[in-house]
Amino acid sequence: MSPPQRVAVVTGSNKGIGFAAVRALCKQLDNGVVYLTSRNEERGKEAVAKLNKEGLKPQFHQLDIDDRTSVERLRDYLKKTYGGLDILINNAGIAFKASSTEPFGSQATITMATNYTATIDACKILIPVIKPGGRVVSVASFTGKMAFDKMSKENQDRLTATKTEEDVALLMKEFVEAANKGDHVSKGWPDWGYAMTKLGVIGAVKALAQKNQSENPKDDILIMACCPGYVDTDMTSNKGKKTPDEGADTPVYLAMLPPGSAGFNGNMYADRALVNVW
Ligand SMILES: NC(=O)c1ccc[n+]([C@@H]2O[C@H](COP(=O)([O-])OP(=O)(O)OC[C@H]3O[C@@H](n4cnc5c(N)ncnc54)[C@H](OP(=O)(O)O)[C@@H]3O)[C@@H](O)[C@H]2O)c1
Repeated sequence: MSPPQRVAVVTGSNKGIGFAAVRALCKQLDNGVVYLTSRNEERGKEAVAKLNKEGLKPQFHQLDIDDRTSVERLRDYLKKTYGGLDILINNAGIAFKASSTEPFGSQATITMATNYTATIDACKILIPVIKPGGRVVSVASFTGKMAFDKMSKENQDRLTATKTEEDVALLMKEFVEAANKGDHVSKGWPDWGYAMTKLGVIGAVKALAQKNQSENPKDDILIMACCPGYVDTDMTSNKGKKTPDEGADTPVYLAMLPPGSAGFNGNMYADRALVNVW
């Protein structure tokens, strides 16, 4: 008898690490349906065509995580077509180049809106349709740990005291407001907007995992964060040392964790190993 069909979605997967994650899931999921999603339909369909040439058969669905309607449309489609989904890799993300002349405050505002707010909103919209045994992996970054290490002891204590995603969101909002006033450093925050967005994801993942565990203790749903490493993609101007396939290894490993992996819930991983941020 073939295994039950599993449905996987990777956000921002028309290129880079997300594209490589779709490739790996197409190869590893027995009886799986893998959705390559992209905010731009043309770029997404071109990416699907590339994988078709490798003999792989991902499906395509439009998804712009910055657009709530787009996320809800995908959720409704998955619910109607499959009764939900099994694997979600939150990979979509942005980063300003070091050479950008955009003021620090607006870089922080824009990056936080996609990397934290839209990513976590997508989790909140899609987790309710994740099936028992489901895996939700958010691609954060080791820079999140670096941001934690650089902030004041007081802000570290406030972050470690957070219990809910809303608590984490309030601290992210406070950072962005300070970044726009230009007093974020004197207020004990790091001078690094991108890293703060990823630290926020690590904190929110912890909170969402605990919430889901207490509300649905028997569902074996795991919610986790990871760092893909320093990867050769457009985001790093191709300076990263890992190939996108190597970068996709940890997110896909977490997405494929077998039953009985409860100890992974809420944690952050890099190179398949636990990273203690706090
Ligand atoms: N590369 C690294 O070394 C590294 C290290 C640590 C963490 N990460 C994280 O890994 C993830 C993937 O990065 P990457 O290096 O593969 O970057 P990338 O090559 O720039 O790809 C980013 C992907 O995200 C998509 N995206 C951006 N905003 C989106 C939105 N609002 N809705 C849907 N899709 C959106 C992009 O779509 P478009 O093509 O339409 O722009 C693209 O497909 C990011 O979250 C990044 O922060 C990367």
